[in-house]
Amino acid sequence: MSSKVSLSRYLVEQQRSKGKIPADLRLLLEVVARACKSISHAVNKGALGGVLGSAESENVQGEVQKKLDIIANEVLLEANEWGGHLAAMASEEMDTIHPVPNRYPQGEYLLLFDPLDGSSNIDVNVSIGTIFSVLKKPESSQGVSEQDFLQPGKQQVAAGYCVYGPQTTLVLTVGDGVAMFTLDREQGSFVLTQENVQVPADTQEFAINMSNMRHWDEPVRRYIDECLLGQEGPRGKNFNMRWIASMVADVHRILTRGGVFMYPWDKREPHKAGKLRLMYEANPMSWLIEQAGGASTNGQQRILDMQPTQLHERVSVVLGSRNEVERLTQYHAKV
Ligand code: AHG
Ligand code: MN
Ligand code: MN
Repeated sequence: MSSKVSLSRYLVEQQRSKGKIPADLRLLLEVVARACKSISHAVNKGALGGVLGSAESENVQGEVQKKLDIIANEVLLEANEWGGHLAAMASEEMDTIHPVPNRYPQGEYLLLFDPLDGSSNIDVNVSIGTIFSVLKKPESSQGVSEQDFLQPGKQQVAAGYCVYGPQTTLVLTVGDGVAMFTLDREQGSFVLTQENVQVPADTQEFAINMSNMRHWDEPVRRYIDECLLGQEGPRGKNFNMRWIASMVADVHRILTRGGVFMYPWDKREPHKAGKLRLMYEANPMSWLIEQAGGASTNGQQRILDMQPTQLHERVSVVLGSRNEVERLTQYHAKV
């Protein structure tokens, strides 16, 4: 008998012996994983599957959609509609929420996703991913509305992402630490490859889009300036830089070897709080990072404490190794 632990077995253990999740949440997460598997196959086909390039449409945020953004969104919708675990879904690629159609049983969960994160990397064969977050529908609510989704990230009951890179890896938390599962293509299943993932408290690696430097605010500028001064500067150590432009891939590196990731507010579009989306990107990633011992803030406030006011709300993000996030928080407080 193989000693490998599949995602299914991990989830059954989370339900049965650990009592961390109810059966319907377990089944919901199985469906999300199945959808990710299917997206992974589409991604892998690339030009052979005719999935590359633009779809010549725009999403609600005015961003040009890629064919894979739409394919991934549809795969997730279709996979999750009929299982009976959900009341509604919301996606970065859809203007409004998608209630489960009346012909299917209604469940008590809400699923949110960024179906394809890192769209600008699709056509150049660089890692991309799917990010998801699960909330419980408030008990007081009749039917389902957008309002039901507007819950702070600390109320998530499950969160994760699937990165489509050299390996397809699904990373998950249900509030019991972070576990990583690698897709075994021969078996067709996700296999547990790391448990109790921990982000080191210190790091010498930062991730930020440096081309925006002239638009940053003072605290971010100060932090990066000090990193760049290296051993001779106030930090007394050299820093390395990475920027993949897929949050999933950058966060995956941080969960694997530490680091700090920033997409701060900047002066290009001052009316926007940031580029990344609170509900589809910042919340699930923040919970994963915190569950792995790291920290996440918008500079002023813990991201998981933020009360969303809109589904497609944006936010400034600083997350990763705890001591670096704390330093950035202090720099923000001094302004
Ligand atoms: P998406 O492809 O879902 O719109 O998200 C892209 C996000 C995030 O994944 C990444 O960190 C960032 O945008 C990259 O932005 P820049 O191209 O401005 O560096
Ligand atoms: Mn994204
Ligand atoms: Mn996206």
